[in-house]
Amino acid sequence: MPDRAADDNNDSLSNDNDDYYDDDAIPFAISEDLVQSPTHKQASITSTDFDGLLKEPLLLSEDLAKGNGGQAWPAGYVLAKYLLRRKLGELRNASIVELGAGGGLVGLAVAVGCRSTTGTSQQVVHITDQEPMLALMRQNIERNDLQCRVEACVYDWGAGKRPSSVPAQPDVVLAADCVYYEPAFPLLLQTLEELVGPQTVCYFCFKRRRRADMQFLKAAKKAFVVVDVEDDPEREVYAKENIFLCTIQRRVDR
Ligand SMILES: C[S@@+](CC[C@H](N)C(=O)[O-])C[C@H]1O[C@@H](n2cnc3c(N)ncnc32)[C@H](O)[C@@H]1O
Repeated sequence: MPDRAADDNNDSLSNDNDDYYDDDAIPFAISEDLVQSPTHKQASITSTDFDGLLKEPLLLSEDLAKGNGGQAWPAGYVLAKYLLRRKLGELRNASIVELGAGGGLVGLAVAVGCRSTTGTSQQVVHITDQEPMLALMRQNIERNDLQCRVEACVYDWGAGKRPSSVPAQPDVVLAADCVYYEPAFPLLLQTLEELVGPQTVCYFCFKRRRRADMQFLKAAKKAFVVVDVEDDPEREVYAKENIFLCTIQRRVDR
């Protein structure tokens, strides 16, 4: 899909002519680590322990040269923090696939969290995105010494075929800040249809930037059971930033 971030010098996931255009450029206030520059960032390496939720910090190369996934986005931090705080037990032995992982923020955070508590488990977290993000995902896997626990691969939504290395109907699917480009909504839904099995829980977090973004949720609710996550102590904080966190599961009647 076209990547508009590289062309703009602002929150390029927004759309200029919409009522919901979020152009206030207020930094996202969950922790200092999370502050997202409204300008096109230089390539850099960041370190975050998600406000102490990780014992060892996650190191993340960020580089927008290959696309907007090269930067970590607010919904990614929200999702990572929620999973580290509330779901590590569930994730420890789960098969996990992250869609639209960008540099791998969420999947890598989960892998580091699980490493601290499971030692030598055989778990593999699959972080996926389009081809231009592959090198950055791999770089970040190595930077955190996660080669035994995390695999990166190309998984293009709607391309029709799940990569053979990605498990069919994994226990958990993760997706952060993947709702921002309307033509991609049906492709993402199609990919969720392919991936979300009867036992799969998808943790889905996105920031509403324009009215159309809610159309994705509307369509998702027709196809899946979508439930707001209510047990996150930071919910009220990020709700003010128009960030939504929900679970998506297959309907039992399908
Ligand atoms: C805003 S970024 C979010 C990155 C990361 N999840 C985060 O929260 O920081 C959206 C990601 O979705 C990916 N993406 C967009 N369209 C895609 C498609 N058709 N197939 C696979 N990934 C796609 C982009 O490459 C990008 O990495």
